Amino acid sequence: MISVLFSLIVILVVVCALKSIIKPKNYPPGPKWYPFLGSGNVVRTLAKKHNSQWKAFYELSKQYSTNVLGLKLGGENYVVVYGEKNLQQAFSALEFDGRPNSFFIKLRCLGEKMGVTFTDGSLWKEHRHFTMKYLKNVGFGRALMEKDIQTELSHIIQKIMNSNKSVNPKEVFASAVMNVLWKSVAGERINEDRLKYLIDLLGARSIAFSMAGGWLNEMPWCRFIFPDLSGYNLITKINQQISDVIEETIEKHKSKAVEGNDFIYSFLQEMNKNKSTFTEQQLKLTCLDLLIAGSQTTSNTIEFAILSLLQHQDVQGKIYNEINTVLGDTPVCYEDSRRLTYTNAFILEVQRYYTIVPLVGPRRLLDDVIMDGYTIPKETTILMSVYDLHFDHKLWDEPSKFKPERFITENGEIKIPKFMFHFGCGRRRCLGDSLAKRFIFMALVSLLQKFKIVCSNGTLPRLEPVIGLIMSPQVFSADFVLRK
Ligand code: HEM
Repeated sequence: MISVLFSLIVILVVVCALKSIIKPKNYPPGPKWYPFLGSGNVVRTLAKKHNSQWKAFYELSKQYSTNVLGLKLGGENYVVVYGEKNLQQAFSALEFDGRPNSFFIKLRCLGEKMGVTFTDGSLWKEHRHFTMKYLKNVGFGRALMEKDIQTELSHIIQKIMNSNKSVNPKEVFASAVMNVLWKSVAGERINEDRLKYLIDLLGARSIAFSMAGGWLNEMPWCRFIFPDLSGYNLITKINQQISDVIEETIEKHKSKAVEGNDFIYSFLQEMNKNKSTFTEQQLKLTCLDLLIAGSQTTSNTIEFAILSLLQHQDVQGKIYNEINTVLGDTPVCYEDSRRLTYTNAFILEVQRYYTIVPLVGPRRLLDDVIMDGYTIPKETTILMSVYDLHFDHKLWDEPSKFKPERFITENGEIKIPKFMFHFGCGRRRCLGDSLAKRFIFMALVSLLQKFKIVCSNGTLPRLEPVIGLIMSPQVFSADFVLRK
């Protein structure tokens, strides 16, 4: 009896192993699949070599001479999409609108697929629409938001003046961005200790997710065997701490202890109308989405802008001359961006050169799709390589050179090519772009009005970015010299 059972188990394992290496018919080219691991081991080895998963995918796409790279990571089919035509298809076709149902995503969403960033279907549509409407009416893109940004900028300038000239931009901008976000979500400026706690938690969470990325995503069952080593225990602990911070704020709103009309109040009003998808968990997750999606992306862009100003002092000179001629010392508002063409072009070049989200996604295919003649099956996870598109020689003149002028037409106007996807594109395009654009523009103009930014000790910091889920600069400091 035992030997029959054992034989059956062996047969079952062999059948599953064989099944796991068979690629679907007409699947896009890519490395061979190994039993149960798929191409995960090949990707992991290359990612280790290059210190980046994005570079591993890039090398494989070149190796297989394809713009549609077919992979299998753990049990999931993955396709990485390259090239303008394919990215346009992925951004516009309805089939690409889904988000994966993986264990990892659920863990990111504190246990249940909720919020905006990682939901799809009717829940996503309803809550994306609600969140965008709120952000448009109350804050983002309005004078109110500009006032909050100006307040934060005056704090930053004061902080820099009080410091010993040499400043680590991360230390000042991460908290300023978080404060503006927190103000629109929770209606109040967050106190310094709480702010530091929240930023540290989000930072620790992002590191824990990167560490656990390979393991937990591909083999979620390993959390039962190695709960510490797999990063699972750490992530659940940090999740709980972040959840507590947001919950505490929601409770404060319920007892009307916060003044004004912020996102949480608007959401609670919808809950009172008994709308079925407006639940406290959904509120918590949407707050988390806004904080996660908006904080590091915006502050990293400013850090890269400062790095670019250090590297290209001639560009800094041109920007300062433009600001000085057009604005002088007048406090900046976003309206001014129409008149500060070169400054605007500089910011766009920073966003191309340092594409903060190098691989946009993940998306989940809602139906089979044909791309470049290959068949990508329903439920495949899709990643779109925007970074490579931003360096495509066929689309950009000397893409590896930093040239703000590429965004200015002969008539002296700003022109953004249709293949520039720094905020994504289509129905899932970034919903915080107007806050990000405002903050980045106003921060840079205010800083350059006051300071000349130069290298600390005359040494240019290391320019090579760290490419994880988003792109970050290596830690650096710069000297902010007060202009006479
Ligand atoms: C420079 C700063 C930023 C960059 C580079 C950026 C980039 C992006 C990109 C590329 C996407 C598209 C993802 C996809 O297509 O799958 C996205 C989505 C999103 N962004 Fe941003 N973002 C920035 C700032 C912000 C801010 C300030 C907020 C919120 C306050 C925000 C909230 C979101 C949300 C909620 C989504 C998900 C939208 C959806 O799935 O429907 N982002 N962002």
